[in-house]
Amino acid sequence: MEIRKFNEPDREDIIELWKACNLTRPWNDPNKDIDRKVRFQPDLFFVGSVGEKIISSAMAGYDGHRGSVFYLAVSPDSQGLGYGQKMMEHIEKALTKLGCPKINIVIRSSNDRVLGFYNNMAYAKDDVVSIGKRLIPDA
Ligand SMILES: CC(C)(COP(=O)(O)OP(=O)(O)OC[C@H]1O[C@@H](n2cnc3c(N)ncnc32)[C@H](O)[C@@H]1OP(=O)(O)O)[C@@H](O)C(=O)NCCC(=O)NCCS
Repeated sequence: MEIRKFNEPDREDIIELWKACNLTRPWNDPNKDIDRKVRFQPDLFFVGSVGEKIISSAMAGYDGHRGSVFYLAVSPDSQGLGYGQKMMEHIEKALTKLGCPKINIVIRSSNDRVLGFYNNMAYAKDDVVSIGKRLIPDA
């Protein structure tokens, strides 16, 4: 898999990938999520492809204190082949280079199956509760 930055022609394929991976939600407009990322830290919006086909994505970020990863996805027919791990290793390198000391990842409670994947990469559950407040509604 080749990992590179997101380019505008990738948009539809990326949204299809997120849908196939059950990462879209009615309250998050994927086009607006992409627009915001393209305006802010676009260098941390990664796309993984094999040949012509986009099979993976991830939106990473660094706020000067912690790093984050959202929309980590590997297309269903390419899962279990090491691509997710490869994408995470790429993100860890990029964030380390920026001086980021720790990555925090939010996992939907309905998706706790993915914990096994992160545990395998030495991510551990923190003793925290994640809370949020919507500032800009997408709908
Ligand atoms: C999570 C996801 C990105 C993982 O990508 P992947 O390419 O399938 O994972 P990999 O093949 O790189 O797995 C790497 C290792 O983790 C292990 N692993 C993967 N999923 C696992 C799971 N659910 N439980 C335990 N271990 C798991 C693999 O066995 C592999 O271990 P190995 O190196 O010892 O063989 C992918 O399954 C996905 O896109 N899921 C849907 C979207 C999603 O939930 N995203 C995360 C949002 S927080």
